[in-house]
Amino acid sequence: MTLSEKTCLVTGANTGLGFAVSKKLAEQGAHTVLVCRNKEKGDSAILEIKRDIPDASVELMICDLSSMKSIQSFIEEFKAKYSKLDILYNNAAVMKQKRTVTEDGFEMMFQVNYLASFILMNSFIELLKNGSSPYIINNGRPADKYRLDMDDLQFMRQYHMYNSFFKTKLCLLFASLELSRRPERDGVTVTMIDPGPFKSDLVRDVPLAGWVKNLFSSPVDKAADNILYHVASGEAEDKNGKVFREKQEKPLTEYWKDTNISKQVWTVTETLIKDKIK
Ligand SMILES: NC(=O)c1ccc[n+]([C@@H]2O[C@H](COP(=O)([O-])OP(=O)(O)OC[C@H]3O[C@@H](n4cnc5c(N)ncnc54)[C@H](OP(=O)(O)O)[C@@H]3O)[C@@H](O)[C@H]2O)c1
Repeated sequence: MTLSEKTCLVTGANTGLGFAVSKKLAEQGAHTVLVCRNKEKGDSAILEIKRDIPDASVELMICDLSSMKSIQSFIEEFKAKYSKLDILYNNAAVMKQKRTVTEDGFEMMFQVNYLASFILMNSFIELLKNGSSPYIINNGRPADKYRLDMDDLQFMRQYHMYNSFFKTKLCLLFASLELSRRPERDGVTVTMIDPGPFKSDLVRDVPLAGWVKNLFSSPVDKAADNILYHVASGEAEDKNGKVFREKQEKPLTEYWKDTNISKQVWTVTETLIKDKIK
């Protein structure tokens, strides 16, 4: 497999799965843009990839997804530099033990895990249309049991680290499904992929819980291979609007299939970000 003609963008690329996927994409010859919030961490990620793959075509761009101002300037910078994008991998996420609010007034996990991905999908859709077999991959999959409370999408009434985290992923799932059906996607494939549990620092707010989770998880390399499998398995179009767990398709539940909910999530989100991003 070679991805030498591809331009790929990976968020949260300095560590964990984002780093492992970026490295594998670079190994396959893709030009890979590592999007990180911290320049020092981003620089070390680039150095580490270059050390192992000297001819890797990798670049660092800075974006703090908890800041609309930062998202806006990153989008402008990326568009000024690139006229096409082949793969958008919305990987970055944060898990917070206590409810916190971003400088834009949104609940932190809701903004970083969901709103930011929604904005990047929509802002880069035209660049993706210039790519070949363009592909948006959103990361994660909530368990079937989760339901959204449309009146409390930002957990004002009830906040719980895991439940709220997975509900932000559920918003992302509904937005992915909605975009996959909308005319403006026009050939851009949109999927949601759960790479399977892997060892990482995601649960860093509660170190003991993170340690226990890692005890039962695979090395990050296996999860990265699952993502690369979907990137590399040829034409992506037949994956549009689908949800995967590792390499297998996960059939949509009756709840996920409810287009009234996905439309509602989409409309509410558009209203929320209307005055926040151009
Ligand atoms: N770990 C698992 O078992 C598992 C299973 C299924 C799916 N996933 C999904 O895999 C993805 C990656 O998770 P991971 O386990 O690799 O977590 P991780 O090691 O904590 O990596 C998360 C990445 O997101 C970045 N990030 C966090 N807040 C950000 C912000 N405000 N702006 C920009 N970047 C930000 C982090 O940057 P910093 O280093 O600067 O914090 C880091 O690069 C997530 O979407 C997660 O839901 C994980």
